[in-house]
Amino acid sequence: MLRLSQEWGVKLGFERVCDAAKVQVNTPMKVEVAGQAIAVVRDSVGELYAIGDTCTHGDVSLSEGFVEDDTLECWAHGAKFSLKIGHPLTLPAYEPVPVYAIKIVDEQIFIDPTPIFKENNNVHTRN
Ligand code: FES
Repeated sequence: MLRLSQEWGVKLGFERVCDAAKVQVNTPMKVEVAGQAIAVVRDSVGELYAIGDTCTHGDVSLSEGFVEDDTLECWAHGAKFSLKIGHPLTLPAYEPVPVYAIKIVDEQIFIDPTPIFKENNNVHTRN
């Protein structure tokens, strides 16, 4: 019997999140994968990103913030985070949020809940 990940043609670790069409341009969506709150974002050119949903300046959901190009701005105090690497680009946040691998298979979004970039800037590699 095939495991779900094999049936969908994705590596182990990736979990199906939702239909890709549910994520609208510049409208972040909060999801939970393996107990972690993650903001899924589609930017204005259609690129998809998955970053930690909790702002590192306060306990605020980044998915309620604002997308501009490849950044996500926290609605509370305006810190902007890079959607590509999770780093804060403006104060008052100075710690990065984790970034997760995301892929689309058969119009479904899959996210690997093991961060690519973590708060301590270590880069995780997978085979
Ligand atoms: S809580 Fe996000 S910038 Fe302050």
